[in-house]
This record gives sequence, C-alpha cells and structure tokens, in this order.
Amino acid sequence: MILAHSLEELRTAVGASRRSGGVIGFVPTMGFLHEGHLSLVDGARVAGATFVVVSTFVNPTQFGPSEDFTRYPRNEERDRSLLESRGVELLFHPELQEVYPPGFATAIRVEGVSGPLEGQRRPGHFEGVATIVLKLLNMVQPDIAVFGRKDAQQCAVLLRMVRDLNVPVRLLFADTVREGDGLALSSRNSYLSAEERKAAPLLYRALRAGQNAVVQGIHDGPAIEELMRRSVADTSGVVVDYLVVVDPLTFESPADFHRDLLVAGAMRIGSTRIIDNLFIAGSEISHANLRAR
Ligand code: PAF
Repeated sequence: MILAHSLEELRTAVGASRRSGGVIGFVPTMGFLHEGHLSLVDGARVAGATFVVVSTFVNPTQFGPSEDFTRYPRNEERDRSLLESRGVELLFHPELQEVYPPGFATAIRVEGVSGPLEGQRRPGHFEGVATIVLKLLNMVQPDIAVFGRKDAQQCAVLLRMVRDLNVPVRLLFADTVREGDGLALSSRNSYLSAEERKAAPLLYRALRAGQNAVVQGIHDGPAIEELMRRSVADTSGVVVDYLVVVDPLTFESPADFHRDLLVAGAMRIGSTRIIDNLFIAGSEISHANLRAR
C-alpha cells in the first residue's frame, strides 16, 4: 500500500494507475477505522474500482466550537494495517497545511437539504463537509466515491452538490454496518462507557418501530414520531434529540408516503451523541399495502 501525505505523492500514484487503465475508487474517512469503513472499500471494489484510495483526514471545519475535534479518536498505525489487510492501494493522510494552506478562503454551501436536523443542530457542519469532500474529490479525481448511509443527510447533501456542480464522479452509498444488537458502527461509539453501550441500541430499536409502522400502513408523520419517542421514553441517561420520518432527498417531512422514506434519529447517551437511520423503499410500502388488502 502506498502512503501519500502530499498532493504530489497522491497525484503521481493515482496518475500512474489511471494511465495503465485503472479505475479509481475513493473512500473519504476521518480515520479510526472500523468494519463500516472497510465495507466502503469493498463497495468500491464491487463497483469496479481497481485502485482504491482511502483518506483519513480529520477535518476541523466540520466540527462546531463545542464539538469533539480535539478528542476525536485517532489511531494511524491501526488504520494503516487495517487498510493494508483489506488490499487498499493508497492511503492519503495529508497534514492540515496541505489541505488548508494559509489564505484558504473558499466554502461550499448546499442550500435546502443542509438546513434541517443535523444542519440545524450543527451550524456550519455541512458547509465543512461539502467543502472538504469537494476538495478531496478534486485532489484524488476518482471515478467512484463511496460514502456510508449511516450519515444519510451527508449523503443527500453530497449528492446535491455533485449534481449541481457537475462533479465528474459516480457516488455510491453503502449500507450501514451494525453490531449484533443493531447499534450502527461509528468511531464515536468508542466514547461510550459499558453502561452507555448497553443503552445505545435503543436508537436502532426506535427506528425499527418507526419503520414497521410505515410499512404496516401508518402514513402519518407525527403519529410515527410519537410512537418512536414513546419507545425510548424514561430511559435514564438517554436524551432524544430527534426521531423523525423524512424524505431521503430533501430531509423535509414527506409529501407522499408511497415514495422512498427515511426514519432518522439522533440521541445523546451521557455526553455522546449518536445518529442513525433506516431507509424504507417505496416498493416496500406498496407491497405491504397490497398484502393488507
Ligand atoms: O463521513 C465522514 O467521515 C466525513 O464527514 C467525511 C466525508 C470524511 C468528510 O470529512
């Protein structure tokens, strides 16, 4: 595996692969890798990538002033060996100055879908994400880039950006990888104490309750949200931030319950904030209706 710290090292290796007919796959991450990230590497491979680049840059501009940038978990040694054993061709681990040199003054703002939920609670977050992702896409110039559906609103923001700006890349969104009890893998799970870890699958269970309600024909946003909230009520140490049903492209309340939907949630367990979501395909909803008739 090639280790690149600079844009020049990155471009040299990617250019060589491209000249010999390589298909470049790209998986942007913030490091502290887990099986969820590694499944994105597999996703790139399945989509035809022959040269997979993974970046592990902890991007400061997507963290708010009171968020966890400085304590965000890092383990470069472990990341390197995990990627190597997954057959990744290049690890891009740039220094801060390489990404944001003095005088850097540009930001990408995606209107609309960046506004609700995470956008409202984490002002500036999606601007930081869109800017770094566009910058990394321009640095790597991949054919395919893969993101995890766990960050569903991030996926929608990036899809909007790539379409609006005609970025020449194919975006792929890979399914969330979960622990046996349903908890979505996340680098931030490492913050949870043993007690908190036990409570954490509550979020998944609430989302499942919402998903089942939609599939069973309850097509009433507030009723579904109430049902999800009730499923976590009175659990000590857990504070629900939101539990909602939304349109997966706009993140607004759904206009039509027969199309694709998403149940999405965020909660605080102690001082750790976790997010998750479940996708409900429009076809799943209509099939259930047919069965019910
Ligand atoms: O999903 C993440 O890990 C980050 O938001 C990303 C896409 C790597 C940008 O920093």
